[in-house]
Amino acid sequence: MQAELRELAREKDAVVLAHNYQRAEVQDAADYVGDSLGLSRQAAASDARIILFCGVDFMAETAAILAPDRKVILPESRARCPMAAMVDPVGLAELKARHPGAVVVSYVNTSAAVKALSDICCTSANAPEVVASIPAEREIIFTPDCNLGAWVAEMTGRNLILWQGYCPTHDLIQPEDILAAQEAHPAAKVVVHPECRPDVTALADAVESTSGMIRYCREEPAGEFIIGTESGMIHRLSKDVPGKRFYLATEATVCPTMKLTTLRKAVEALRAEAPVVAVPAAIRVKALAAVQRMVEIGR
Ligand code: 13P
Ligand code: SF4
Repeated sequence: MQAELRELAREKDAVVLAHNYQRAEVQDAADYVGDSLGLSRQAAASDARIILFCGVDFMAETAAILAPDRKVILPESRARCPMAAMVDPVGLAELKARHPGAVVVSYVNTSAAVKALSDICCTSANAPEVVASIPAEREIIFTPDCNLGAWVAEMTGRNLILWQGYCPTHDLIQPEDILAAQEAHPAAKVVVHPECRPDVTALADAVESTSGMIRYCREEPAGEFIIGTESGMIHRLSKDVPGKRFYLATEATVCPTMKLTTLRKAVEALRAEAPVVAVPAAIRVKALAAVQRMVEIGR
């Protein structure tokens, strides 16, 4: 089926993008595997007719915002990120009305309608840089991830008005999980995602986006790492950083929506060129400014 997907992609002039949390067999059939920021940049830069996005709803929507002339396909339409669903345009508009001078920073894990109400988007790879780029005297509303927001506030020393959303998968990781993993692997460094709770990030040697984790584990002299993020990352790290060992902080971190995309669904979706993800023009134009600023900031 991987060969079938590759052949279809060639025939149909499609680029296959897969997030680091996708199933191993889907990652291995993709043109690019990466984090939210890297995949957004790939979507913007690619001149393929079709973008097959093996990920979740907000990622495909972001690709459609950046590349409106391309057909963006999300193989599994039920692959909706629960954290992105925790903030809605009506609630955000109310919060903005209470803080009329505030700059709204929204994590890329949001709907296009929420992005359209935001001044600038960020991903976990560039959130501190995005917040630091805002003049010190301005109030900042940060949506929707209160865990990422708490970490960014600590990194930048800025006071953020936090929306109370969270990632149900990362929020599962408890300090006890890290302590138990350290007891089992005393020589290992602990690397966690900034979507983890503050009492978990406080125990880590490094807090990194998924692609930042690859860089960190490659550059660190240590040979073993405890990884606090979604399970798909272990496949990615084992492939990209050969000769080192990776242990999930807890086996519980399986994102159900990320795992909905199977290789079979990817093949069928590309063959049918559906389901297509499109963003209405009025929303797209407003969201584009915020997303463009996001792709321009950070490495
Ligand atoms: P990154 O790949 O940008 O670190 O995002 C993590 C995530 O949870 C995406 O849904
Ligand atoms: Fe959403 Fe969390 Fe799953 Fe990422 S890992 S898609 S933030 S629920």
